[in-house]
Amino acid sequence: MKEQSVTPAGAIGIFDSGYGGLTVLSEIRALMPAYDYIYLGDNARAPYGNRSFESVYQFTLEAVEWFFNRGCHLVILACNTASAKALRTIQQINLPALDPQKRVLGVIRPTAECVAILSQSRHIGVLGTEGTIQSGSYEIEIGKLHPQLSVTGEACPMWVPLVENREYDKPGADYFVKQHLDHLLARDPQIDTIILGCTHYPLLMNKIIHFVPDNVRVIAQGEYVAVSLREYLLRHPDIEGKCTKKGSVQYFTTESPEKFNQQASLFLNEEIEAHKTTLEKR
Ligand code: DGL
Repeated sequence: MKEQSVTPAGAIGIFDSGYGGLTVLSEIRALMPAYDYIYLGDNARAPYGNRSFESVYQFTLEAVEWFFNRGCHLVILACNTASAKALRTIQQINLPALDPQKRVLGVIRPTAECVAILSQSRHIGVLGTEGTIQSGSYEIEIGKLHPQLSVTGEACPMWVPLVENREYDKPGADYFVKQHLDHLLARDPQIDTIILGCTHYPLLMNKIIHFVPDNVRVIAQGEYVAVSLREYLLRHPDIEGKCTKKGSVQYFTTESPEKFNQQASLFLNEEIEAHKTTLEKR
C-alpha cells in the first residue's frame, strides 16, 4: 500500500543516511528559519560510506522520490557520500523523467566553492567516507573552481560508526581520530585547511581540533551549505516560490523513531518527534 502524504506541500527536503545531515539542517534553519523542512534519515541502511556506487545511487534515488511524493520541490542531499555517488546521475538521468521542474542539490560543490579563501598554503585536506574519498569528488570540484589548490583526501571508515553509536566523545574514539589526522598530515605536511567532508564529522570536532596543530584550520561544511542554499534561492525565485514558509520541521527515519529522537536530540540540542517511514520499493 502506498503511504499517505502527511506533510504540507513544498517543504525543503533534507536527506542523509542517518544523523549527520542534522548538522547541516541546524545551520540551514539558523540562517533560514522561516521555511518548512522535512528531514529524512535512512538509518535502517546507514552507514552508506562503504557501500557500492549502485547501492548508494539506488537508496538515494528512493529517498528523492519519497521527498517528491511529499510535495518537496527542492531536496538537499546533506550527505557527502550520496552527493559524491548519486547526485550527478539523479540530476542528469532521473530528474528529467521524474519532474524537470524539481531540484536536487548536494553539499560538495558549496564546500568546494568556499575553500580557496580559507587556505594560505593552498594545500587542502579532505576527510570523508571511503565512498566520498574514492570518488575523487572533492578533487574534481575544487580542481574545477580553484586549480591552484592541492587536495589530499583521507578516508576515515570508523568515524561514522563512532558517531552513529554515540562513541564520538568517548576516550576510545581518540585512537581512530588521531590515526587518520596523523596519516593525512604525514602525506601532505603543508595542509593548513581540513574540510570535514562528511556531515557526521562535526560531532568529532573537539577531538579533531585536539589532534591537529594550531595552524591547521578545520572546516565543518554546514554553514557554507546554508549560505549557498540561501544564495541559490535568491537566484532561483521560481524554486523559492515553491517552498512553503511556516517555520516547521518534520523528521522521518527508516529505523526506530524512539532511537532517532534520542540520538537526534544530541545533534540538535532540542527534543524532536520522528515518524517511521519506508523507502524500499514494494
Ligand atoms: N553523513 C554522510 C556523509 O556526509 C554519510 C555517512 C555514511 O552513511 O557513511 O558522507
